[in-house]
Amino acid sequence: MSSSMDCLSSKDNKQETTPPPKAAPWWTAETVAVVTGANRGIGHALAARLAEEGLTVVLTARDEARGEAAAAALRARGLRSVRFRRLDVTDPASVAAFAAWVRDELGGLDILVNNAAVSFNEIDTNSVEHAETVLRTNFYGAKMLTEALLPLFRRSAATSRILNISSQLGLLNKVRDPALRRMLMDEASLRERDIERMASRFLAQVADDTWRGQGWPEVWTDYAVSKLALNAYSRLLASRLAVAGRISVNCFCPGFTRTDMTRGWGKRTADEAGRVAAGLALLPPEQLPTGKFFKWSTPHVYSKL
Ligand SMILES: NC(=O)c1ccc[n+]([C@@H]2O[C@H](COP(=O)([O-])OP(=O)(O)OC[C@H]3O[C@@H](n4cnc5c(N)ncnc54)[C@H](OP(=O)(O)O)[C@@H]3O)[C@@H](O)[C@H]2O)c1
Repeated sequence: MSSSMDCLSSKDNKQETTPPPKAAPWWTAETVAVVTGANRGIGHALAARLAEEGLTVVLTARDEARGEAAAAALRARGLRSVRFRRLDVTDPASVAAFAAWVRDELGGLDILVNNAAVSFNEIDTNSVEHAETVLRTNFYGAKMLTEALLPLFRRSAATSRILNISSQLGLLNKVRDPALRRMLMDEASLRERDIERMASRFLAQVADDTWRGQGWPEVWTDYAVSKLALNAYSRLLASRLAVAGRISVNCFCPGFTRTDMTRGWGKRTADEAGRVAAGLALLPPEQLPTGKFFKWSTPHVYSKL
């Protein structure tokens, strides 16, 4: 008789096969999660997953009609807790109006997922024609929104968390310039202004067409620099908030995922990536680290960003 048959034939073994009871979730219907760029792709799947888990989800999008339609599609699936609010992460007025709405309408938030991003390259091209928009959206936009929402987090150790959807293309091992790599790894001296100077230096080199051969990441260079900056900022913010408040800050790279950004290429669907991202956003407080970079679901945690 096989061991699996044994399991079925004995009462004790049957008990062994019963999964342990699921721990009660730490969140409630009042827990508020904000997801940027959630009208399509991974952000949309992630917003849907968080709503399925019963949280209040603010689905944001820069385009009113696209955002309304995306939120309506989720509500039509029975996810009644989804609310739409317009938010262009590159527009200071839009960010300020959104923060005021979160404060006045919701009384604060618990989870922020900075997901909105752009890339203009085909899979195997490396144009920097739109570098400024890429940096403005993926790094400065996420940073501006984060700073505007920070005072509105409820700051409970059990709930408050920021998840930045990033990319392994912006990991330090992609940086060829040893001085830049050293600067970003020197956690004791690294400051936000250093990260901003790095971004400005890259954009200046793009403007005078001297960026090649300078040690920047070689794949999707503008996008990679934007994520390099986002990763470094996340790391600094994590230390800042570990002292000053109780908000965790982590990054997640979903890996190569079939969305519009990759022109439909990739190893996994947006739903699969969104599900893993939601799992990270909802980690139980006792398992929630800060200042880490998660890659797919391993979680493969890099100690340095
Ligand atoms: N797909 C991958 O293989 C992959 C791999 C690693 C990391 N990621 C990261 O995963 C995240 C989601 O990417 P995705 O693949 O789902 O991309 P996507 O399908 O292109 O979706 C990007 C989303 O960001 C929004 N967005 C762009 N600019 C915005 C702005 N200024 N303000 C607000 N929203 C804005 C887009 O809105 P519109 O519809 O209005 O354009 C869209 O909703 C990004 O952070 C990306 O870098 C993706």
